[in-house]
Amino acid sequence: MLTTRPRGTNDFLPNQVEKWQFIENQVRQLCAKWGYREIRTPIFEHTELFLRSVGETTDIVEKEMYSFEDKGFRHMTLRPEGTAGTVRAFLENKLYAQPQPTKLYYMGPMFRYDQPQAGRYRQFHQFGIEVFGVSDASIDAEVIALATTFFKTLGLNALTTKINTVGCSNCRPAHQEALRQYFSAHKAELCPTCLGRLAKNPLRILDCKNESCRKAAQNAPTTIEAACDDCRNHFEQLKSYLDGMNITYQVDTNLVRGLDYYTRTAFEVVINSVGSAQNAICGGGRYNSLLAQCGGEDMPGIGMAIGLERLLLTLEEQQIDLNFEVYPQVYIASLGEAAKKESFLLAMDLRNQGIYTEIDYLDRSLKAQMKGADRMQVKFTVIIGEEEIDKRQVQVREMSTSEQITVSIDELTHFLKERL
Ligand code: HAM
Repeated sequence: MLTTRPRGTNDFLPNQVEKWQFIENQVRQLCAKWGYREIRTPIFEHTELFLRSVGETTDIVEKEMYSFEDKGFRHMTLRPEGTAGTVRAFLENKLYAQPQPTKLYYMGPMFRYDQPQAGRYRQFHQFGIEVFGVSDASIDAEVIALATTFFKTLGLNALTTKINTVGCSNCRPAHQEALRQYFSAHKAELCPTCLGRLAKNPLRILDCKNESCRKAAQNAPTTIEAACDDCRNHFEQLKSYLDGMNITYQVDTNLVRGLDYYTRTAFEVVINSVGSAQNAICGGGRYNSLLAQCGGEDMPGIGMAIGLERLLLTLEEQQIDLNFEVYPQVYIASLGEAAKKESFLLAMDLRNQGIYTEIDYLDRSLKAQMKGADRMQVKFTVIIGEEEIDKRQVQVREMSTSEQITVSIDELTHFLKERL
């Protein structure tokens, strides 16, 4: 127990963390160019926020939240996603009072009590963006384009962008009623959770992963059939913007997403190779009623989030090399007590001059130190013995050629800098 991490969590070791840092840098560069600024919100929020936004009849809220009571008897939840917290922060900090739109991005851990498997974890990381204050379909297209551009920059292939329109407060009530009627005739095929959803929110049944519910939903009335003229127009606009950018997409009329806050546009980017439930690498959509639902300004919003673990797994699967192992440039091997002290000070000097330097801390033999230097793949090994200290000189060995020359200690930094 003491040496086992909680199920569904990961340790990222140094060589993996360098890949994460690379991805994070790509995110920062892309967002800077597209005008998105970073926001950092708490890892936990009041449970009520997720009930109101993500929705009480969603899998996330019904089954997957890490909720707890704090010592002051407040109901708290580790964030299962980033949109709710960003909306809360936008309202609480009155960012709506600034000139719009507001374009934000975030990266960080999210928590869902999910069934752990490859690509599905209980603590996972998302890079997400949220835009507030724009109703126009051009921003829907921009959000999708940012995600696809990000994937393209990293060299990913075999991804499909699926889009749909899920209706709005005008057309949804009639659609919900049509679904209620349709599923009432299929009650026997619905799982207990969906039977509960039938009265409260039948749209959710379309997103159930249960095989029998999926079959029952096959001929259910779709959101596009029920869409009002405004929703249809918006969808047509979105498609024409995507066409204009040569972004290929599939219209998937079954796509309703697992969160309740969506209106109009909903989309996902899926990996073609994996046919399982973990194939969504990115999901997003518009949420025009969410801010008002949270008790704030009546302002439209849209966003998306990319699962970073799934992204890294896909990069690996597609053999896209993100090999960022870093090796020291210089190793200082020393022989004897005085030389060891000198090597320590010399290493500090070289590091201060910007040269990545390693030394021996373990009093190993010269042979063992040379072997260590080899393993670390350094370019140069500096060798200091008692005699060298007296003469204020060191031996510098270029590892690729095994050539060794004598350099004065005072000249060493200059010598190495010229050759590294
Ligand atoms: P979501 O589809 O629930 O959307 O999650 C977005 C992405 O997070 C998924 O496509 C997937 O890559 C990753 N993900 C989700 N659950 C897990 C898990 N258990 N393990 C690993 N990766 C996972 C949202 O979260 C929305 N907040 C997106 C959004 C932003 N919509 C509007 N703005």
